[in-house]
Amino acid sequence: MSQHRDGFTSSFGVLVATLGSAVGLGNIWKFPYITGSNGGASFLLVYLLATLIVALPVMIAEIMLGRASRANAVTAFEMLAPKAQRFWSVIGYMGLVAAVLILAFYTGVAGWVFAYIFKSLSGSIHSTDPATAKAAFGALVADPMQVLFWQWLVLASTGLIIMLGVSKGIEAVAKKLMPILFLLLILLCIRSLTLPGAMEGVKFLFAPDFSKITAQVLLTAVGLAFFKLSIGMGTMLTYGSYFHSEQNIPLTATRVMLADLSVSLLAGLAIFPAVFAFGFEPAAGPSLVFMTIPAVFASMPFGNLFMALCFVLAAIAATGAILSILEVPVAMMSERLQFSRKKATAISVATVALFGIPATLSSSLTADWTLFGLNPFDLFDYISSNILLPLGGILICLFVGWVYGLPQLQQQLSNDGQLKNALLVKLLFILVRYITPLLIFIIMLKGLNLL
Ligand code: PHE
Repeated sequence: MSQHRDGFTSSFGVLVATLGSAVGLGNIWKFPYITGSNGGASFLLVYLLATLIVALPVMIAEIMLGRASRANAVTAFEMLAPKAQRFWSVIGYMGLVAAVLILAFYTGVAGWVFAYIFKSLSGSIHSTDPATAKAAFGALVADPMQVLFWQWLVLASTGLIIMLGVSKGIEAVAKKLMPILFLLLILLCIRSLTLPGAMEGVKFLFAPDFSKITAQVLLTAVGLAFFKLSIGMGTMLTYGSYFHSEQNIPLTATRVMLADLSVSLLAGLAIFPAVFAFGFEPAAGPSLVFMTIPAVFASMPFGNLFMALCFVLAAIAATGAILSILEVPVAMMSERLQFSRKKATAISVATVALFGIPATLSSSLTADWTLFGLNPFDLFDYISSNILLPLGGILICLFVGWVYGLPQLQQQLSNDGQLKNALLVKLLFILVRYITPLLIFIIMLKGLNLL
């Protein structure tokens, strides 16, 4: 590759862009509803373990592969694997499939968020009554034209940012938006924790009941940990390829993981007190945030404005994540097929829009298109989070542990000997060579009922 390759311009840029990918609807929408449907605190505990033992090592390994190759997720493996083992690039192609499947439903949910910004301002969802909140949400998702309109708006706006490039698009937007996100989230938490009866929700989140932990719950936790940290599908690899050579990868990954965890916990602390204060159902599923956030603000002065701000927060989070997923196919097409960034983005956005139709219409026209009892929305989510990402994680571990090897890993993660982290890298190596892939494998087999 002879031309100059775009990349992140500063350490702060790397941090916010990577965090921008990790923090998303996963924290604000998925984490609360999955935690709510899987028993609360006991799930949280399993999720914490999955993040530390399983997801963090994969995240470090994946970013490292990106920076070592300075290439997209397919080319990276072709470059780093020995000539006879080009097949490792299948990881990149699996990532491409995961990217399309995730974006198909994710941009749909982001669309609901955009719609809720406007609904908040108009006062039409202003209610603490669970039945009214449910009806308002139901009316939106059952309206095919509305949901498609919002989804396409999300795709068009994120597509435009991607066309601007890595430093001028992704990094510039993340630098502006991430600080606002933290501020808004803290505000929301304060409001929710001061509701009467808030402690009930805090207890739900922090008092574990171990009888609720089953093999399915374990797989859900691993799937969520992968989805949360944007790993197992080449997103972090692609972003890693834009890291500069002095960036401390293990430290950056750990910081992103901790910050991402804090956002999830803050989101939990914002949602569950309200769930219990107003009598919502913690196991309500994907509609949970869309019903509770309006309730939190309905009874306060300037409630509509704060409610809208809250959905702005979710929209910001979604945007950073969508940009990072879109970058996977865009980097592949522009580097492998020499497409311009514009053309690569247009093709990616159009493909997602197409797959997005059945996913987004899952509450109306395609509700009966079920496979294994799942409608397109749930199916895309299940296949990506619980199968493709963990499988990608296993393969990335095996590649780094058995093909790439310790000497090269030491060299990459110490920035050619500049960082004194040999012991840490050794520990990571043992994890990715044996422990992490085996754990994911067992959890997958059990969770999918194959063992
Ligand atoms: N991490 C993002 C979130 O939590 C979603 C995502 C998944 C982003 C996979 C990139 C890759 O919302």
